[in-house]
Amino acid sequence: MNNESLENLSTESRLYPPSADFVAQANAKAEMYEAATSDRLKFWEQQAERLSWHKKWNQILDWSNAPFAKWFSGGELNVAYNCVDRHVESGHGEQVAIYFEGEPGDTRTITYSQLKDEVSKAANALIELGIKKGDRVAIYLPMIPEATIAMLACARIGAIHSVVFGGFSAEALRSRIEDASAKLVITADGGFRKGNAFALKPAVDEAVQKSPSVENVLVVKRCGNEVAFGEKDIWWHDLVDKQSTEHSPEFFESETPLFILYTSGTTGKPKGILHTSGGYLTQAAFTHFNVFDLKPDKDIYWCTADVGWVTGHSYVVYGPLANRASQLIYEGTPDTPHKARWWELVEKYKVSILYTAPTAIRTFMKWGDDLPAQHDLSSLRLLGSVGEPINPEAWIWYREVIGSSKTPIVDTWWQTETGSIMISPLPGVTETKPGSAMRPLPGISAAVVNDKGEVLGNGKGGYLTLREPWPSMLRGIWGDDERYKETYWSQYPGIYFAGDGAKLDDDGAIWVLGRVDDVMNVSGHRISTTEVESALVSNPMVAEAAVVGASDEMTGQAIVAFVILRQGATEGPDTVQELRNHVAKEIGAIAKPKKILIVAEVPKTRSGKIMRRLLRDVAENRTLGDVTTLADPTVMNLISQGMTTGSED
Ligand code: WTA
Repeated sequence: MNNESLENLSTESRLYPPSADFVAQANAKAEMYEAATSDRLKFWEQQAERLSWHKKWNQILDWSNAPFAKWFSGGELNVAYNCVDRHVESGHGEQVAIYFEGEPGDTRTITYSQLKDEVSKAANALIELGIKKGDRVAIYLPMIPEATIAMLACARIGAIHSVVFGGFSAEALRSRIEDASAKLVITADGGFRKGNAFALKPAVDEAVQKSPSVENVLVVKRCGNEVAFGEKDIWWHDLVDKQSTEHSPEFFESETPLFILYTSGTTGKPKGILHTSGGYLTQAAFTHFNVFDLKPDKDIYWCTADVGWVTGHSYVVYGPLANRASQLIYEGTPDTPHKARWWELVEKYKVSILYTAPTAIRTFMKWGDDLPAQHDLSSLRLLGSVGEPINPEAWIWYREVIGSSKTPIVDTWWQTETGSIMISPLPGVTETKPGSAMRPLPGISAAVVNDKGEVLGNGKGGYLTLREPWPSMLRGIWGDDERYKETYWSQYPGIYFAGDGAKLDDDGAIWVLGRVDDVMNVSGHRISTTEVESALVSNPMVAEAAVVGASDEMTGQAIVAFVILRQGATEGPDTVQELRNHVAKEIGAIAKPKKILIVAEVPKTRSGKIMRRLLRDVAENRTLGDVTTLADPTVMNLISQGMTTGSED
């Protein structure tokens, strides 16, 4: 993205102040900004007090070894105790923690007291398997309560979970298991998706075969589909069900690692983003309470994210449970058995807070207003959005059609690395603009800067940076301190660069414009261009590949690959399909290129760098930009010819 495109953004003048009723009952008041500005660390210390600590910290923030932060160091807590036990102890054991709805329509209701029993049993099972503090446990599960239970069981005994999205391939799972040297994998026979059992166990079998670190595989029986069972495999129900419901949590130092979550960066290899305990839970709970205005005794909260992504970590598991929310978890896809399934669920459970992604909202827009209109959505009182910029039109539709023209919308900007929401309206305070995440939350300092790192004023566009450490920030990249410093802290020394472009409008509201690096955002999922290129090149037919993200109405960006075949590889009618399937096998179906163009050359600079800008022009059917820096300006003609003859899916 160049500076010019960062500067050009139409101005949005529609303003949506919260209603007087909403303001009167809101958790977060305007004073919070002032409190945080006048003493930022004290502000965060007060937020930490919403958790239950076994031992108080000695220091709020230790930044002496920057960029490696320590928050609340010396303090001791147990994350699972905070998410479960303390609610039972305060007399809320009978409150429902999870309403589970499986895709086939099966349901389970789990109270906080039952959740405590289940997490304790699972913790005892992990101990029986020899899992100890600091060991890594890979979790590869569908959206079923066992996913939450497994994560909390790890947290409870100080083991580090690494959740791998169930849509990732065996190869992607294997590389993540290997990078973290996971000792145990927790999976299921399968999950229900689009009306069928989607098998998970075969991918685990394939991955584990090549992963010597894995000692056991714990398998939840979800679908009853046929699975191979080897020496390392144990059924969840055989091991967990017989365990005692008694387990006394140990308390761990605030900086004890809680989880690793892999995410795409600009180079091919996914980064294991490391999060720790006290600071992470503090900010996850703080943001969940204030941004979603949670009333634990009244609300039914539903975040539609999968636990395989950070949103599922912070806003399905840790934030809501720390705040004693009653929440809905839905296993399947929005169109099964019919396209009004979500709205049927909102009506059935009287969901009051809904948190989802723009890609889903755009899909529902396309499906039409009559589907939500068939259901009573009047229980909804707040809507949230995350994962990519939300177009103003989708924002308005969300508010009018889903939110009955009355609900505040919180457009929340954050990342796997930030751990929790960083930029967002406070729903009872902020006058929102459709499409803008508005302002940094209290206690967070963000700024938009130019190439030189100079802070820009209103009306200017540039790069989004975070100026001060925050409690739920990543503590590093698993096993690679250098890469952590290099990736996030070297562009502007001492300052965190998020990889996003943003613009400040004339009122100082922040408009996040998306990634400025080689990371694509497809349906809210981060996928690196290099990762897909490497996958393509690993196919023997491919000599070279260049991948770009092209704007797409439904998915935000779509993956378009330009592929040069090896000499001797013949281009047949199935070549493109075969390559698409190859990428799905290497990474997962989410990374399948939408379009593959077989070309004779890709444009390169004289120093050999692929000119993605030009490829994006081609992929988005634009007239070509400046070609004067190309080593061979004629290649663009070749590619344009390729466009007309190239195969398309
Ligand atoms: C993008 C997801 C605009 C952004 C929580 C960021 C957004 C990346 C928004 C992180 C938003 C997330 N408006 N863009 N409200 N939320 N993004 O790590 O490009 O999967 O850097 O975390 O998603 O994606 P990640």
